Amino acid sequence: MTELKSREIDRLVRAACEARDQAYAPHSHFYVGAALWINGGEIVTGCNVENASYSLTICAERVAAATAVAQGHRDFVAIAIASVGGVKPCGACRQFLSEFGADLQVVMTDVLTGTRQIRQLSYLLPDAFDASRLPVT
Ligand code: THU
Repeated sequence: MTELKSREIDRLVRAACEARDQAYAPHSHFYVGAALWINGGEIVTGCNVENASYSLTICAERVAAATAVAQGHRDFVAIAIASVGGVKPCGACRQFLSEFGADLQVVMTDVLTGTRQIRQLSYLLPDAFDASRLPVT
């Protein structure tokens, strides 16, 4: 398992904070940025994108993960999430991220205080549903 150094985490958190500036959240006014550290050092970011239908809203974490996959990346080491209060990822995002590995480091940052909390994804989503439960075709 790859562990990021503290200055790498600093970089990742900065990228998540910058990504948050692009958040499209006219309905909730809750702005979230996410930054994924790809094995090898590349960073891919995302922000939440809301919709007037509410339920079509996409969280920053899923935007970052889908963008990374679309760019050819699947080997994720860590994700930083930047918001007021340093929120933890929602259940849907935990499941979405777990597709790419349960040992992902999740760094939750409060943009107001700079406070950070780091958890492994398997801690946030124990006993996750995964492909091993699917019939082999
Ligand atoms: N949101 C995220 O982007 N990530 C999270 O971890 C929590 C919630 C977004 C979805 C919605 O646009 C807004 O925050 C309020 O729920």
